Amino acid sequence: MKISAGFNPSCRLSLVIPTYNERENLPVLVSSLVAVLDAVIPDGYEIIIVDDDSPDRTWELAQSLQVSYPQLQVVRRRRERGLATAVICGWQMAGGEILGVIDGDLQHPPATLKQMLKAIEGGADLVVASRYTRGGSVGSWNSIRQFLSRGAVSLALWLLPEIASQLRDPMSGYFLVKRSAIADCELSPIGYKILLEVMARGNIDRVQEVPYTFLERKEGSSKVTWRQYEQYIRHLIRLRFAVGKGKVARWGRFLRFAVVGASGVVVDFIVLTICSQIFGFSLLATKTNLGDVTIFLSKILAVEIAIINNFIGNEFWTFRDTTIGKTSFRQRLQRFGAFNLACTIGAVINIATFSLFAKLGMVIAVANLLAIIISTAWNYLINLKFNWRSDG
Ligand code: GDD
Ligand code: MN
Repeated sequence: MKISAGFNPSCRLSLVIPTYNERENLPVLVSSLVAVLDAVIPDGYEIIIVDDDSPDRTWELAQSLQVSYPQLQVVRRRRERGLATAVICGWQMAGGEILGVIDGDLQHPPATLKQMLKAIEGGADLVVASRYTRGGSVGSWNSIRQFLSRGAVSLALWLLPEIASQLRDPMSGYFLVKRSAIADCELSPIGYKILLEVMARGNIDRVQEVPYTFLERKEGSSKVTWRQYEQYIRHLIRLRFAVGKGKVARWGRFLRFAVVGASGVVVDFIVLTICSQIFGFSLLATKTNLGDVTIFLSKILAVEIAIINNFIGNEFWTFRDTTIGKTSFRQRLQRFGAFNLACTIGAVINIATFSLFAKLGMVIAVANLLAIIISTAWNYLINLKFNWRSDG
């Protein structure tokens, strides 16, 4: 499931309320949300209720509220169930520059939105209402509930440390995120934890937490069953593989680059051997006259053909996925020119570091190896960042 990047410039915030059997809670929630939001962004927001065809006909009640609140949209999903996918479904039809979610059972106090909006305006990509940051609390939970909640956080810290550790309350279901941070990212959550999905798959740089107290449910009942715990674990494992794959893919790319580079060394040797046959010099001679123009020009030819070889390998294999939509002859020629330049600079770095290390008294073979590593890293990074531009 993807969220498009386009938004309606007059809509700052789209707030989704996922509901399942919440008809008693909805009227109070909607009127207090409207009171809070009218005070800060009048006419600049929309509220989207996504109901999964609740047996108590929450969707019908929601539709009746639209008469008094034109900023309210209602979706009745008939064939699907699930909190996280309901939220994405709402965001897919949202117009706002900021996307948000709040529970439909009044356990998330609407007033916290004011601080959350301020934090987004202050430059955060993601603002999370948090029970575990200073000033927040879980209210009056019994020890079993506290234990399960803490256990869920520990599990996330263990399986997804780089994500869960960014937040005190990674289990929160109340947050705002900039559309630009998740637009065009493939989201495929299972179960409840939409926040983990957003953190793992979005491009989130700045995260901020705002404290709140988790209120008691007065009407209706929680939909959490053991099934949600099972789904939670499956979701964590899925994210572990998805996030890990990104890292493996990056190493895979470097490996392909190195293989192409090695093939270039072979090509260089073959060309030099052919030239030595044609122009009658020996590759095995111990004393070469460096001033010999034919040898010098032969070497330049060998290097250039190796560069062409490497360009073809990188263009059609190493970086193929990054060239989609940029394959006109002119665009390829442009990349070829840039690659040539990068390689030339790479060669200068290679020779310079080699001479430096050799001068410092390093064994020649080691100096050469280090010089090759440094110049290969240079070639790779410069081409990755500027030539075959990739976000992955
Ligand atoms: N559309 C839809 N479909 N909504 C659902 C579904 C579903 O299958 N299941 C639950 N919801 C809605 C509920 O109606 C409610 O508005 C909200 O999602 C939260 O469900 P609860 O069952 O009340 O969950 P909770 O109170 O135990 O936990 C919530 O709050 C925590 C603290 O922020 C969840 O949002 C957790 O993810 C969150 O950690
Ligand atoms: Mn709840």
